[in-house]
Amino acid sequence: MLDIQSQFPFFKNNTDITYLDSAATSQKPFLVINQVNQYLSKVANPGRNGYGVSYDLNIQIELTRKKIANFLGTKSNNIAFTKGATDGMNIITRSLATSVLQGGGEVLLCSDDHKATILPWINLQKNLETQGVNIKIINYKTDPFTGLINAKDLLSKINIRTKFVVLTHAHNVFGVVNNIKSIITHIPNHVITVLDVAQTVGHTKVNFEELGVDLAVFSGHKMFSLEGIGGLYASNRVNNLFSQTSFGGGVEIDTFPYILEVGTKNTIGIISLGAAVDFVNDIGIDNIKSETQNLTLELLSKLQNIKGLSFLAGIAFDQKLESTGIVSFASNSDQDRIIYELNENKINIRIGKHCTQRDTDSIRVSLHAYNNSKCIDRLVSTLSRCL
Ligand code: ALA
Repeated sequence: MLDIQSQFPFFKNNTDITYLDSAATSQKPFLVINQVNQYLSKVANPGRNGYGVSYDLNIQIELTRKKIANFLGTKSNNIAFTKGATDGMNIITRSLATSVLQGGGEVLLCSDDHKATILPWINLQKNLETQGVNIKIINYKTDPFTGLINAKDLLSKINIRTKFVVLTHAHNVFGVVNNIKSIITHIPNHVITVLDVAQTVGHTKVNFEELGVDLAVFSGHKMFSLEGIGGLYASNRVNNLFSQTSFGGGVEIDTFPYILEVGTKNTIGIISLGAAVDFVNDIGIDNIKSETQNLTLELLSKLQNIKGLSFLAGIAFDQKLESTGIVSFASNSDQDRIIYELNENKINIRIGKHCTQRDTDSIRVSLHAYNNSKCIDRLVSTLSRCL
């Protein structure tokens, strides 16, 4: 057992709360909080001036970029800082994709996925339409049992007009990790691949260059850093296709990643993201992954003893699948009663559509390596009482 709860003030200060909503956001370790506090007691605007603190912070930002790039299997000049995965996807559609699609084309995406991977493309389609350019958005399917991308369906929909394929590394409701590397090897070269890794960073090893993806987006707050910071990866093949979409001070170098980082940088966020990477490296990503996987299987086996739950696609259908700690299910019992009981017992989980366009609500439990059997038992006994 990993036993890392003592490294998080949340668990020390809130022993009455059972936190099982890490797919929405993770708790923050002391290591991150301490580095953020240290920064707050000595601030300046990085890079704007030649004096000590400003200069040092700029160096720290660039060293952090290098650390994050290294953590994600790439180089500094392939990583731009953004506000998070949603922001990254919006930057892609406003900048690179707007110019790539000027002559029309098709975008393949999955309508089961998180809205952050869908709505920016719908908005781009509308914007292009006002300029007289028509593009097609085509949906590919996921497997109804495992929740994995249906690669056969996806690949059969690619043609010469396909300009982008948008993929999700791990689904935010189904939790299973897609074999992106294998899918990408079958995607023809003229297609630009875009990957959302929001649910995998901090859970499993993510290596952009090994995956072979062109573009990827992630958020820091699901992997122990502050909210409002994340990154956009662009491979050497496509990073020169970005144009500036925001204007103001601070862009002295007009190439990727700097053309996307207009204005005063989110120094506190960047520092927290660097500290989060230190934290993950200290614990070991493989240890985090195996702890979460073991806890997920324990959760699943205990939930399966409760009558009246129907599991959504995901690990419940194939326990050998790699998972990110998510188990989602539905119940035909009164949802308001379930919400009431969970709140009464201070069990924090998410109920609803989880930012997808699904028709029906579900109950999503999402674990991280700081959870333990006690958290699972509290959830299971509360659910057992109200179902
Ligand atoms: N994207 C976050 C989730 O899945 C908020 O809950």
